[in-house]
Amino acid sequence: MSKNELHARKDESYKIFDKIAGTYDFLNHLLSFGIDIYWRKVVINNLPKRNDLEILDLACGTGDLTIALAKEKNVKSVLGIDLSQGMIDIGKTKITRKKLSDKSSMEIGDGVNIPKEDNSFDVTTVSFGIRNFPDTQKSLHNMYRVIRTGGRSMVLEFSIPKNIFFRGIYFFYFRYLLPFVGNLVSKHKDAYSYLNETVEDYPYGENFAQMMKNAGFKNVHFKELTFGIATLYIGDKLENN
Ligand SMILES: C[S@@+](CC[C@H](N)C(=O)[O-])C[C@H]1O[C@@H](n2cnc3c(N)ncnc32)[C@H](O)[C@@H]1O
Repeated sequence: MSKNELHARKDESYKIFDKIAGTYDFLNHLLSFGIDIYWRKVVINNLPKRNDLEILDLACGTGDLTIALAKEKNVKSVLGIDLSQGMIDIGKTKITRKKLSDKSSMEIGDGVNIPKEDNSFDVTTVSFGIRNFPDTQKSLHNMYRVIRTGGRSMVLEFSIPKNIFFRGIYFFYFRYLLPFVGNLVSKHKDAYSYLNETVEDYPYGENFAQMMKNAGFKNVHFKELTFGIATLYIGDKLENN
């Protein structure tokens, strides 16, 4: 797929998620061998250490991160936003089932042009979503805008392992195995076919950290997870920025 086609696909990626929403959770855990649960735990461990946190979870999908955040004692509320009604419908059911409706909710909302007031959250998070957005830098600017001074934004996203051995296994898995199983189980002709291209084409490590700095974030740093298959990026909004 050409870069232009890949970009055009990102404009409407949420429509594909609408179609695969029913199998998303099952495939997510299967294809990541459950490691995604640990990755989300690392996000939780890096929340600011204070009480009454109000969190906005972008591209919340079926809500695994939204729910994990809402379970934390120092979290007052979590609002998940996503453009896919199908994903959100499943997320809302999970929130009700887990009796977390008093602390968490979900609504339709764009992760790029975030439809929220300036300085209205303590934390924004986005897990495995930003890579699908048509404009990463604009999304980061808006994440910065909607958090309060003293707030933090965290981005969890796929990256590429540095180690040549793991890199080989990773490419084989992402290019061949994952698309085969993903398309078969989701019964979608190509929902999982270009996942490797969106990852291989996407900035990671220092390059992504620089984009966060460009958006105004301070203390920008990142943690490579599981040999660098995924990376958690963290940036703060400080006084006198
Ligand atoms: C791979 S899923 C990640 C879901 C969830 N955060 C997780 O960790 O499982 C990507 C999500 O991004 C959403 N999405 C794509 N473009 C979006 C946009 N511009 N604004 C908000 N959500 C978007 C899709 O609808 C989908 O639910």
